[in-house]
Amino acid sequence: MRILITAGPTREKIDPVRFITNYSTGKMGYALAQSAVEAGHEVVLVSGPVTLKAPENLAEFHSVESAQDMAEAVFSIFPSCDAAIMVAAVADYRPAEICSSKMKKSDGDLFLRLERTTDILAGLGKLKRDDQKLIGFAAETDDLLANAQGKLERKNLDWIAANKVSDGFGSETNKVILLSRTGERVDIDTADKKSVAEKILETVF
Ligand code: CTP
Repeated sequence: MRILITAGPTREKIDPVRFITNYSTGKMGYALAQSAVEAGHEVVLVSGPVTLKAPENLAEFHSVESAQDMAEAVFSIFPSCDAAIMVAAVADYRPAEICSSKMKKSDGDLFLRLERTTDILAGLGKLKRDDQKLIGFAAETDDLLANAQGKLERKNLDWIAANKVSDGFGSETNKVILLSRTGERVDIDTADKKSVAEKILETVF
């Protein structure tokens, strides 16, 4: 199978020296990419800025920065793939204006206006053909299963990995609950991200 995987955070520029991002390290997405290569799949990895080395033997590697860059790469690659796993922690908002010069401080408060980015996964859910599988992640601090179930349905996914932020974000290990559109539930207990990745692939493919 040819599988598209996204990983890492995005960076949304404020000015030439500042940006908005999140704590994603990319480890879960890279572990999935590595495991998928080892399982014999053709893997296309689209990665936000991380400090990790790309797995060997990827079919393609695309390094992107912003949510918009990631959206453009993903929408052009997805039609040629059998499945996509969106692990990236994509920014939901970006500064409405990017200053071309470094912003100078003044005495008063500063207000940044943020505008929505594209929901890439929801876009893929609309484009998805019957022969394609779509898997998402739901990073939640509260109401894990209800929120994940909502995203599974809203974004037209086949599977979602429900992930408590305290169980995985920025850490070496992870713990997820996989929910499918047909009502299956598979619990994957705390383990290193590589083991969790292998179990996710065994379950969804
Ligand atoms: N996602 C995406 N594009 C975005 C935001 C999220 O493709 N602009 C994908 C993520 O890669 C993940 C899934 O959507 O697979 C869920 O992301 P998450 O951040 O948990 O949820 P949101 O859709 O941002 O919803 P909310 O803000 O309500 O938590």
